[in-house]
Amino acid sequence: MPTVVDLRSDTVTRPTPEMYAAMAAAKLGDDVLGDDPTVAELEALSAKMLGKDAAVFVPSGTMGNQIAIAAHTQPGDVMIVEEEAHVLYYEVGAPAVLNSVLTRTVPSNQGVMDPHDIERAVMKRSLHTPGSALLALENTHNRGGGTIVPLAMMRAYRELADRHGLKVHLDGARVFNASVALGVPVSEIARHCDSVSFCLSKGLSAPVGSVLVGTNELIDRARLWRKRLGGGMRQAGLLAACGIVSLTKMVGRLADDHARAKRMATELQGTPGLSVDPSSVHTNMAMLDTERPAEEWLDALKEYGVWAMPPSSHRIRCVFHNDVDDEATSRAIEAVRAVAGRWS
Ligand SMILES: Cc1ncc(COP(=O)(O)O)c(C=O)c1O
Repeated sequence: MPTVVDLRSDTVTRPTPEMYAAMAAAKLGDDVLGDDPTVAELEALSAKMLGKDAAVFVPSGTMGNQIAIAAHTQPGDVMIVEEEAHVLYYEVGAPAVLNSVLTRTVPSNQGVMDPHDIERAVMKRSLHTPGSALLALENTHNRGGGTIVPLAMMRAYRELADRHGLKVHLDGARVFNASVALGVPVSEIARHCDSVSFCLSKGLSAPVGSVLVGTNELIDRARLWRKRLGGGMRQAGLLAACGIVSLTKMVGRLADDHARAKRMATELQGTPGLSVDPSSVHTNMAMLDTERPAEEWLDALKEYGVWAMPPSSHRIRCVFHNDVDDEATSRAIEAVRAVAGRWS
């Protein structure tokens, strides 16, 4: 049996040989006491790349998002958020449970909200109504299919946030995918936001970790929240060393993942029992809409050593990453065709 082609997520990537070497060589300290030099280096590099004052290394993208919400809001404030955003859909109610914020949701087209809909969702603080404090964005958009929120939209969101006195947080778990696909520095996306959290442990292949960036003042508050939630890590330089490799060596290659996702969608167009739209592949995800339940497809694909995930009952998500090369992509495409052939 050949090795599995694991398309469930880009989180499954294993550390690269260079990351193992960087871990072995990393200078370490106690980051809770503030003296791990490798964490400090990762944070400085992150702030510089994103064009912000400061950064804080956190264990996960979820924690990065939640401490950003905590640092931007007071209990009872309103957060405006796209209705299928990760912070809402996949963080087990943390905005309500941890941060006591109300959420007003806005529909979107594959993750791209209409600024007029956001404007309609803004609530002005009064004796009777809670006030909107935060606009939460996601780029690329996970449930949208790894879709890009265009720069012009980011600009429009910033402009309306300023008009209404809202802070803007970007869940940029995959913001480097957006930057590579758009061909712009990641700071061009981040400049429209007060804070950005991004993941090292997805397409950038580090084993663990995310970074939250923003102003010095915001990151000082975020550090308190990280400690409060138990996110302070001691010799975290071991992990930060991998993150430095992610940022210095793994960004450019994301384009290969994007090309493979597009190739899969293009080659599977017209496959019986499936509906696939290559134009909706913006980055490293290909979505296959299935006539039969997605679970039946996933069970059948497993027999061919291909693993994927179902974001909904009749949709399969295939995510491309550093551990899926051209040959693995061909195997996945052939497996989908073979399964389709059984049922046609
Ligand atoms: C858009 C988005 N935000 C946040 C996260 C959370 O990251 P983590 O799994 O590190 O908590 C993910 C993870 O898949 C994600 O896709």
